[in-house]
Amino acid sequence: MADIRFDGKVVIVTGAGGGLGRQHALEFARRGAKVVVNDLGGSMDGSGGSSEAAQKVVEEIKAFGGEAIANGSSVTDDAGVALMVKQAMDTWGRIDILVANAGILRDKSFSKMTIEDFELVLNVHLMGTVKPVKAVWEIMKAQNYGRIIVTTSSSGLYGNFGQSNYGAAKLGIIGFMNTIKLEGQKNNVHINAISPVAATRMTENLMPPAMLEKLKPEYVTPGVVYLASEEAPTGAILAAGAGVFALARIYETDGVHLGEKGLSAEEVRDSWAKISDEAGQQAYFQGGEQGGKIFRKLSEG
Ligand code: NAI
Repeated sequence: MADIRFDGKVVIVTGAGGGLGRQHALEFARRGAKVVVNDLGGSMDGSGGSSEAAQKVVEEIKAFGGEAIANGSSVTDDAGVALMVKQAMDTWGRIDILVANAGILRDKSFSKMTIEDFELVLNVHLMGTVKPVKAVWEIMKAQNYGRIIVTTSSSGLYGNFGQSNYGAAKLGIIGFMNTIKLEGQKNNVHINAISPVAATRMTENLMPPAMLEKLKPEYVTPGVVYLASEEAPTGAILAAGAGVFALARIYETDGVHLGEKGLSAEEVRDSWAKISDEAGQQAYFQGGEQGGKIFRKLSEG
């Protein structure tokens, strides 16, 4: 098969001034895309900011003959997001791909976490994904083409001590994807998620150097590039780190129909082994399939 190329295509990568986003932006540009490099340029906890980080990556892209422009807006700022999209449209007239990657951390056990830190992280990750998607949505639908990659995390999919705010946001992003993947299908707008593991400033204090060495952010980028390609699936969660790629899915067991007569909490307790039996479990593509299963089991008695 031919190489994946993005000639003539326009990509926005948020939070692309460093870490994973920078690698994504560089690789899209190497493969012919015109790139909007967005980054607020703040510290890891979301304080401060300058457009220098984005500008530096733009210079790197230009140095190898690529095309890129910088945007220093916060992904949570309505006017800034509108400006980012306007810059892309004014310069190149279209937007084909959005990689929603920007993010911050405010880790603390839930006991010690303030509601302010919870809301801030939720806002940057979840609304900082929703707002850029909203801003490109009608453009992509009108083009009958779009590829959106959102960024989730094992902390959201499975949990991680000290990251209740971040985990809530990261799984919220998956809930968002699960619905817009259905709404975008008719217009060939595909939405997928990357669940990365990489050595960046976010993780540099969490793992030993030997492990970090194996977790280069550029080892995640091929997964993002595939999810941005014409052949991309929709609604997939691609876990990626150190060159290992896997699909993350939510499964539902076949379950058991306990009947209406005498239905009780004790019956649920006593049926736990059957309820959780993995034989016949399925991953659904949309919520209605759960209802379909329920009525199938009813008809089976
Ligand atoms: P990073 O801190 O190097 O990169 C995040 C970038 O987002 C920074 O350049 C930062 O300036 C920018 N940013 C933060 N708030 C912003 C805002 N409001 N508007 C615009 N830009 C903003 O961290 P890393 O690791 O590259 O993270 C990238 C994404 O991957 C994040 O969404 C993160 O949650 C996610 N992730 C990373 C993992 C890892 O192992 N590094 C694991 C799971 C998820």
